[in-house]
Amino acid sequence: MNANPYDQLPYRCQPIEWTAPERLALASLLHQGPVPDLRHYRVLELGCGDGSNLLPLAYYRPQASFVGIDGACTQIQLAQRRQQQLHVPNVEFMTLDFLQANDRLEGTFDFIIAHGVFSWVPDVVRDALFALCQQRLADDGLLYLNYNTRPGWNVRGMVRDYLLGSSDRSQPLLLRAQSAQAAAAKMAQSLATEQHSFSQLLANEFQFVCENHVSYVAHEYLAEHNHAYWRSEFLALAAEYGFHCIADADYNYASGRVDAALPARLISMGLAGRELKDTEDLVSYRQLHTPILSWQRAQARQPEHAILRQLQVASCLQPRGAHQPFWFEHPNGYLVEAKDALMADALNRLATIWPDPLPVTALLGEHENHIADLLLLHNNGLLELRLPQAPGGSGQFQLNQLNQLELEWGGYCTTAQHQRVEYSAPLGTERRA
Ligand SMILES: C[S@@+](CC[C@H](N)C(=O)[O-])C[C@H]1O[C@@H](n2cnc3c(N)ncnc32)[C@H](O)[C@@H]1O
Repeated sequence: MNANPYDQLPYRCQPIEWTAPERLALASLLHQGPVPDLRHYRVLELGCGDGSNLLPLAYYRPQASFVGIDGACTQIQLAQRRQQQLHVPNVEFMTLDFLQANDRLEGTFDFIIAHGVFSWVPDVVRDALFALCQQRLADDGLLYLNYNTRPGWNVRGMVRDYLLGSSDRSQPLLLRAQSAQAAAAKMAQSLATEQHSFSQLLANEFQFVCENHVSYVAHEYLAEHNHAYWRSEFLALAAEYGFHCIADADYNYASGRVDAALPARLISMGLAGRELKDTEDLVSYRQLHTPILSWQRAQARQPEHAILRQLQVASCLQPRGAHQPFWFEHPNGYLVEAKDALMADALNRLATIWPDPLPVTALLGEHENHIADLLLLHNNGLLELRLPQAPGGSGQFQLNQLNQLELEWGGYCTTAQHQRVEYSAPLGTERRA
């Protein structure tokens, strides 16, 4: 039998919204980092799995070229079959181990993406991964890696230790993962009635195991290697290869948002600890980081208005109705109050054309305070600032050739903005997955 666990039980991959090049470039721009030229660029995905992330990226971005590599031949064969079904010419998949990949790659890449890889490989491969990126990242390029983060992940790590410790390694991986899910379900049930907050925390973690796909359980909880890093430890490692962190790619998503006032509060209370960033992670119960790295140091300050004026904005905030003309509601239930008629009018206009954007200046002219409000809403995930080169403009969501295949492959659809939506007939009843 093939010893590679990803050949034994392939990982069910999915598009990761914030790995889209224009989203990485925007996050970098808003944090004063470099911005690759989005008119034509090259993307390398390390550990691309079955191609679920790269195929929609390539489909909607014909001006760019994409290379995906992965050590598991089963996964790459699946990605190649899907590519043939979809007929996308601007992507290439190769079965390659990170340890040997450099010799087979050509040129540099403007974006390098590795999602779900860094924490899950032995140190020697992790170092090879960094070395590969060092050789292949273009001067203005952006490197995206995510990693399990201490100390928040330690809670998940305890669950992993328990499940791994009680797993029978002589069994096939699929059976082991199914047994782990069955044990987790029992554990979650037995803890559910306990009052102690630690029991509730553990019950949630065990529940998380039951709710996830069996391939995730196999490769997260039963993987031979799963190393969580302190943020300071990760940044020191990255610095050894010359990389600096610009921002988290998911900084404006629920998973990545941190109270902007937290660092100052910790400092003023004398609670910064040994490393402020690690202390922020401690009190935020952060389990995962999604850093964007570059060769250049970014300056952590607000973007200039001149930058914001170049952007576009799209909003799915819906007006609450004539009785509350300044109030808008996000699909997640969050309510937003427009500060005046100009802002309310802007949000109303955007609601009618969602998911299409308008240029910020066409909407708000030179009103700096209003433009600053857009940034605030963007930072809180309530609307989307976009680079003008971002794909889109397709109007209301409609099933295209990619989506029809994605429904067969994984039961979801990916939009031009690289958002995964669930879809059920009749047409147009999609919702964000
Ligand atoms: C957890 S999966 C993540 C897949 C995908 N990026 C995602 O997030 O959905 C990790 C992937 O990294 C690949 N991988 C692990 N070690 C590797 C190595 N040494 N060389 C090449 N690929 C490797 C695995 O085959 C697997 O497809």
